[in-house]
Amino acid sequence: MTRPRITNKLILFFVASAIALLATYLFWSFAPEIKVLLEHRMGSNNASPSANTIIGAIKLFLVGIVGYLFVRALNFLFFGLAFRLKRIDAPKLIRNIFTIVAFTILFLIAFTFLFPGVNLGALFTTSAIFGVILGLALQDTLGNFFAGISLQADRPFQVGDVITVGAQRHTGVVEEISWRAIKIRTFQNHIVLIANSNAAKEPIEVCPRGNLNARLVFFNTLYTDSPAKTIHVVREAVREADNVSSKVTPIVRIRNLGDNGVDYEVKYWLEDYAKYNDTDALVRQRIWYAFRRAGLNFAFPTRTLHLERRTAGEARDGDGGAITERLSAVDIFAPLSAEETTLLAQAAVRHVFAPGETVIRAGEPGSSMFVVHKGRVSVQVSENGRPRTVATLNEGDFFGEMALFTGEPRTANVLALEETEVLEIGHSAMKKVFDSNPDLVESLSFIMAERRQGLASQADSTATTSESSAGILSAIKRFFGL
Ligand code: CMP
Repeated sequence: MTRPRITNKLILFFVASAIALLATYLFWSFAPEIKVLLEHRMGSNNASPSANTIIGAIKLFLVGIVGYLFVRALNFLFFGLAFRLKRIDAPKLIRNIFTIVAFTILFLIAFTFLFPGVNLGALFTTSAIFGVILGLALQDTLGNFFAGISLQADRPFQVGDVITVGAQRHTGVVEEISWRAIKIRTFQNHIVLIANSNAAKEPIEVCPRGNLNARLVFFNTLYTDSPAKTIHVVREAVREADNVSSKVTPIVRIRNLGDNGVDYEVKYWLEDYAKYNDTDALVRQRIWYAFRRAGLNFAFPTRTLHLERRTAGEARDGDGGAITERLSAVDIFAPLSAEETTLLAQAAVRHVFAPGETVIRAGEPGSSMFVVHKGRVSVQVSENGRPRTVATLNEGDFFGEMALFTGEPRTANVLALEETEVLEIGHSAMKKVFDSNPDLVESLSFIMAERRQGLASQADSTATTSESSAGILSAIKRFFGL
């Protein structure tokens, strides 16, 4: 407490004492007159308290105030002197207990003096129900009170110590131990109040203020860095840091040969444990700079990768065998050798479409064809603004060949009917197939001619399949330069 505040308190105390003493003196002096006045006013009414009782109660009240001020003065003198002479700083809890006990004794003396007819002992002992009610109401308060007394008696920690309390691990510096709670200030500058009765039941970790408390800080190095050198460099760097005690040399040791490097811990002792967060950070900083100067390296996560070389098709599909199998089951590719089908599978690109999604849009240019790998598609043309389904294609069927083989725009819309996976085969892959299998072109031209007929409405369909296929065949040959 600062000096002006003490002076203010003293002035206030003396003024209050003077007023209280004066009031008590005056009341005492004029008590007989006031009594007569009261008796005259109240008459002989039996129901109202007697003038004597009222005068006694007011006297007790005034004496109580004077007594309280007297006890406070006694408290100040007694504990102030103890601190001045013996440097004993009594805890607040002890001061409060002293005040309560001294005041209660004074009050009881005043009561028996002012009301000699009332037997206080009988009043308390006969009122059992009152005792039970009071006991229940004060259960927690008394629990805290007695736990507080036991904390003061045991003195497991003191103001200024760093403690960690209970399962919630509240950590902070003890600021006060009152009759109700322990007050700690956390390292986030929050105040936490822990009821004495709770603290008495919980485990408490204490780092006493005058004690050399230790901390551990972890770091790591590459496997190529020498442990002897690392230990020396870190020990020298840490022992110089602020708040690291010079009384004990820091210990640096290997704690694990880890996945990424060699794991170390440095154990150091602090002058002021309450500053351990800052000191930990400083120690880490010192280690970083020391590493820089000594050419040591922190380890970082490393992994050994085994690379497996895969073919282009497999890499894209991740399921090369199934694709080759699918293509070999397609009618038009039946004449291909196993090797040619595998090459075609490697060139194929897999796409997945959601139900209702458009795979091919009529009128757009196209340079690839598709095979339905999984699912179903619908081939549709627009007639009078309404879609007409020309065909439904299932797994193993192909589409998109018309634009690919003739260079013309797409002739129809193709939509996925369910979740559908298609294999896309491009122009260059098909050219290779045609080069080695010229007969394939002919069988394809027949299929395409049939499909063209299906596209045209009944009325418009005039050309025969054989006529159309001849024209298609020459168109394909021209387009592919066969
Ligand atoms: P393309 O014209 O490239 O794009 C639309 C595709 O729909 C077309 O190739 C054919 O593969 C396909 N197609 C058009 N008409 C039919 C049909 N009648 N039956 C099956 N598929 C067809």
